[in-house]
Formats: sequence, structure tokens, C-alpha cells
Amino acid sequence: MHRDDESPPPRPRWLKWALVVFMALVVLGMLNLGWRMLQPGPSAASAASAAQSASGGGSSATQPSASAGLRLVEASDCLRCHGMERYYVGPSFQEIAARYRDRADAVDYLARKIRNGSVGEWGRTVMPRHPQVTEAQAREMAQWLVSLPVLPAAAQSARAAEAASTPR
Ligand code: HEC
Repeated sequence: MHRDDESPPPRPRWLKWALVVFMALVVLGMLNLGWRMLQPGPSAASAASAAQSASGGGSSATQPSASAGLRLVEASDCLRCHGMERYYVGPSFQEIAARYRDRADAVDYLARKIRNGSVGEWGRTVMPRHPQVTEAQAREMAQWLVSLPVLPAAAQSARAAEAASTPR
């Protein structure tokens, strides 16, 4: 009795109109989008230049090589043991930056430590050597490290670690 395929219940008229209006809106929306994508548009250009000035006009003059250092750090195994802000297996990069960046020989020192490994500066955990990292790469990483902006919390825990480390 219910299988009455021949004459489905009549749909209300407004449904048809609602569908037409909906389709019209969709088409208009797509036209609008297509039109905007075709426009070279001042908005796209200004967004690009804003992004450029944001990345190029940073505070530090060592910006280009500093970000190269970050890429090297990301490509190596460093982040397995070092966090940016939290002490993990080793000190955070923030803490390292806070502790050494005011040293005159910071880049040399850190680059040497990165290649030769370290122990006793922060605790008893050993940082392994990184012979696969070239001297130039280590210097890039060190340069990136000392260019990091340091949060007060990192500066504080770095001072504490320094005070507790084995005297040299
Ligand atoms: C297996 C874990 C591990 C890996 C991988 C690792 N580190 Fe470390 N790192 C440590 C530990 C632990 C310390 C603290 C050593 C100490 O107390 O002297 C440390 C310390 C450091 C220090 C500070 C040395 C000092 O004299 O205070 C720097 C800089 C550093 N790491 C950079 C790096 C970089 C760059 C990489 C990647 C190439 C890296 N680490 C990979 C564990 C690691």
C-alpha cells in the first residue's frame, strides 16, 4: 500500500522556489570568488609586502643566518632533547640563550659544544657529540641560539643552573 511510486506526494511549491534562490546564491558566490581571484588586487599585494616587512624588518641584524640556524636545528636531532622553552632531556634553547648570549665568545663556545657534546654544565646528563654537524653548521646553529629573544623565566632558570653546575 505504501509503495505508491507512480504518484509521489506533491511537494509544496515554496520548496521549489527555495531551491531556486539557494542555487542563485551559490552561483553568485562562485562568481564573486572567481572574480576576486582574477583580480591582481591591492589587497593581495599589500598583504605580501606586509609579510615581507614583518620578516625582513625584524629586530636582529643576524636574521638571515639566524633562521638558517633554526632550519639546521630542525633538520638535526636537537629537538629530541631540547625544547624551545622547557627543560627536557637537556636545557631549553631559551635557557641556553639566556646563559650565554652575553658572552663575547658565545658563538664560538656554543658551536664547539654542539660538535663536541657537553656534560656537567646543566646536570649529569650527557649531550652526545655531533660529528656529522660541520663547523659552519654548528656556527649557524649557535648564531641562531644567541639571537633568541629570552623570556624572564628562562633567564631565571639559566642562572639557577649556572649556580648549580660544576665549577670550572
Ligand atoms: C641526546 C640528547 C641531546 C641531543 C640529541 C642534543 N642535545 Fe644539546 N644538550 C643535551 C644535554 C643533556 C645538555 C646539557 C649538557 C651539560 O650539562 O653540559 C645539552 C646542552 C646543550 C648546549 C649547552 C652546552 C653548554 O655548554 O651549556 C647546547 C648549545 C646544545 N645542547 C645544543 C644542541 C644542538 C644544537 C643539538 C643538535 C645538533 C643538540 N644540542 C642535540 C642533550 C642533547
